[in-house]
Amino acid sequence: MGDALRPFVPDFKGRVESDDGEIYLELQDLLADFEGPCVMDIKMGVRTYLEEELAKAREKSKLRKDMYEKMVHIDHEEPTEEEHRMKAITKPRYMVWRETISSTASLGFRIEGIKHGDGTSTKDFKTTKTKEQVAKAVRIFTNGYPGVLKMYLKRLEAILLALESSVFFASNELIGSSLLFVHDNHTASIWLIDFAKTHPAPVEMKLTHRDPWQVGNHEDGYLIGINSLIEIFMDLLKEKCG
Ligand SMILES: Nc1ncnc2c1ncn2[C@@H]1O[C@H](COP(=O)(O)OP(=O)(O)O)[C@@H](O)[C@H]1O
Ligand SMILES: [Mg+2]
Repeated sequence: MGDALRPFVPDFKGRVESDDGEIYLELQDLLADFEGPCVMDIKMGVRTYLEEELAKAREKSKLRKDMYEKMVHIDHEEPTEEEHRMKAITKPRYMVWRETISSTASLGFRIEGIKHGDGTSTKDFKTTKTKEQVAKAVRIFTNGYPGVLKMYLKRLEAILLALESSVFFASNELIGSSLLFVHDNHTASIWLIDFAKTHPAPVEMKLTHRDPWQVGNHEDGYLIGINSLIEIFMDLLKEKCG
């Protein structure tokens, strides 16, 4: 609670037990102060699986027909000749490939979903990969809300500063964690959410969150994602202001 990231995460209200005995965290509702909020969930990092999950998949390395089907559905040229012959691929092969069809592996984040002010939503971003494709989606998300691009950019820069001085961030691997973008006609803000797959890195390891990921180094590429987002929002602002 004393960390530099404290102003950028929802307030912790305590633990609550449901009727069936499950324990939940009660968190601040980040949408409470907005009127007709527009919401975008951006999943951070150059990979969205834990090293342990990849290692586990490698141990079994069973051939998967379902994953081959999913792969050819998106890119028929991706499987090797042998994979085409077997009509199957391994799970680790699928896990690593899947991060390359969105912007995850290259830009260090991907859009998970967007909800517009009128309540309609889209989760159709699995192959939104290039900077230009992401910029197009953000343009649609912010269209008709003057001023929010600038507010988002300021908040991203403040988050970058806080991350660079955060003791928590320096010692944890953040996998599958999101930035939640929220705006309405009056204001815009961003919070860090979803720490279900955030774990302390091995004690002797100092993470940069910038170095390329190699199996075993626990790097998550979180800051690669922040820098890509800052560049995209800067470009969108320039384009708007001429
Ligand atoms: N504190 C919060 N206030 C408002 N909405 C939230 C909050 N935390 C999460 N959400 C919403 O719920 C969605 C899923 O939450 P998340 O913590 O990412 O769980 P998971 O991805 O495991 O389902 C987010 O994309 C966001 O829209
Ligand atoms: Mg999530």
